[in-house]
Amino acid sequence: MHGHHDFDLYEAIYTTRSMRRLKPDPVDPALIVKVIEAATMGPSGHNRQPWIFVVVTEQNSKNFVAERYRKAWETIFTPTEREVVANDPQSQRGRNLRSAKYLAEHIADVPVMIFACVKRYTDRARAGQPMVGAIYPAIQNLCLAARGYGLGTSITGMHTMYGKEIDAMLGVPPEYANLILIPMGYPKGRWARPDRKPALAVTFWEKWGVQRNSVAD
Ligand SMILES: Cc1cc2nc3c(=O)[nH]c(=O)nc-3n(C[C@H](O)[C@H](O)[C@H](O)COP(=O)(O)O)c2cc1C
Repeated sequence: MHGHHDFDLYEAIYTTRSMRRLKPDPVDPALIVKVIEAATMGPSGHNRQPWIFVVVTEQNSKNFVAERYRKAWETIFTPTEREVVANDPQSQRGRNLRSAKYLAEHIADVPVMIFACVKRYTDRARAGQPMVGAIYPAIQNLCLAARGYGLGTSITGMHTMYGKEIDAMLGVPPEYANLILIPMGYPKGRWARPDRKPALAVTFWEKWGVQRNSVAD
């Protein structure tokens, strides 16, 4: 129906995790538009569709963003985390941090940066607040669709620490919030199931705190 190949929904969901090690190979603009189209299938309050996706592939712009992303990472990367990366790189936390560090150090080389921007409310109660609820379903759709095309993504927010400068460079107007930067490209690494708590561990039944050890009875 959508003119693309079959890709199992559950395989996409269960193998889409942050893919931060990306090859520099360019991505066909037609594919970029396909993943953005998938993003736009997401829901939004009153179907406002308050999103704009800014695609960046020019090296100068990527360098500008990378410089700031890296500075943000250097301030966020705590001494404790540095120690984890140095001494315990194979723990789950160590691997996550190492991967995040890799992205911070190589983000200038990713082929595509997609900035997910969302409108701000204008009513009195919420004036200025971004319509955050609308952007995350869209972003997850984008990441899943990218997975279907063999493209790795991650959801990052660190650029917002230098948001004013980045928005000025990209020309993002003040009516929009540039919330998420999605680096996208073909993966260097392998797809794998994300490390997550078991569903039953995060499920309460009828009342808060009531858990089941199994649902087979
Ligand atoms: C709102 C949001 C912001 C995030 N910001 C960053 C970021 O700035 N840099 C980064 O490397 N990862 C970022 N992440 C990715 C998370 O660190 C990652 O999803 C989490 O560690 C789980 O790892 P996995 O996706 O590989 O399973 C962000 C994720 C979300 C949802």
